[in-house]
Amino acid sequence: MSQPDKPATTAPPRLRGLIAVIALLLISPDSGAERDAWTIWDSRCQQCHGSVSEFARERLWNIDGQLHGKRHAEELRQFLHRHYIPATAIQSMREMLLAHARSTERFDSECGSCHGTAAEFVENSLWVRRDSITSLATGKDIAEFLSTHRNLSPDDAEFFFDLLLHVGNAR
Ligand code: HEC
Ligand code: HEC
Repeated sequence: MSQPDKPATTAPPRLRGLIAVIALLLISPDSGAERDAWTIWDSRCQQCHGSVSEFARERLWNIDGQLHGKRHAEELRQFLHRHYIPATAIQSMREMLLAHARSTERFDSECGSCHGTAAEFVENSLWVRRDSITSLATGKDIAEFLSTHRNLSPDDAEFFFDLLLHVGNAR
């Protein structure tokens, strides 16, 4: 430290802040890569996309650990390689985005008691194409069906439609 003559307990606030940061870095092993991703986001991505958490929550899905957006996993992987990100940071960027993306968590808690996991449900009951879903049993359009199922609000119906679409396209 720059002031070896002073014990840490009486260190000025800035030094104490520094000690706290160092302590934090020591206890979180992935922080190096994580920090890279945040730094890159702030300097290269934020200008177009705003905050990480809002962007990921609105546009991205974590389906079984795979990142999906408008593009599905493999296509998105290729897209990211051509999209402003230094090659060495791709992995940490994907992890950061995955951590903030939407997931099947809400399906598990709000639908799972009757339908099992989203993956099983899609596999057994639905015909999922790129932008539409049809019931295997009844041939009904699922976007329409959801608007009348379980009193879902229009926003929630859209959320779950999107979720099923991404799960269906993830395989
Ligand atoms: C100059 C503006 C700009 C910058 C800078 C930028 N992006 Fe984008 N990004 C876009 C646009 C426009 C799209 C939508 C294009 C599309 O989907 O075809 C997009 C789409 C995306 C998507 C979603 C793709 C999908 O399939 O839904 C991700 C993820 C993404 N950007 C990540 C990043 C990251 C990470 C950075 C920084 C390293 C970054 N972007 C920097 C403009 C930008
Ligand atoms: C209490 C049990 C229950 C819960 C919870 C439930 N559902 Fe259902 N769901 C059903 C039943 C029963 C059907 C069969 C058809 C009907 O209701 O007309 C069904 C049918 C469906 C279908 C059409 C399946 C097909 O084969 O045509 C979809 C899609 C669906 N549910 C989605 C959801 C979503 C998304 C949630 C969570 C927000 C959810 N369900 C929560 C009981 C439930």
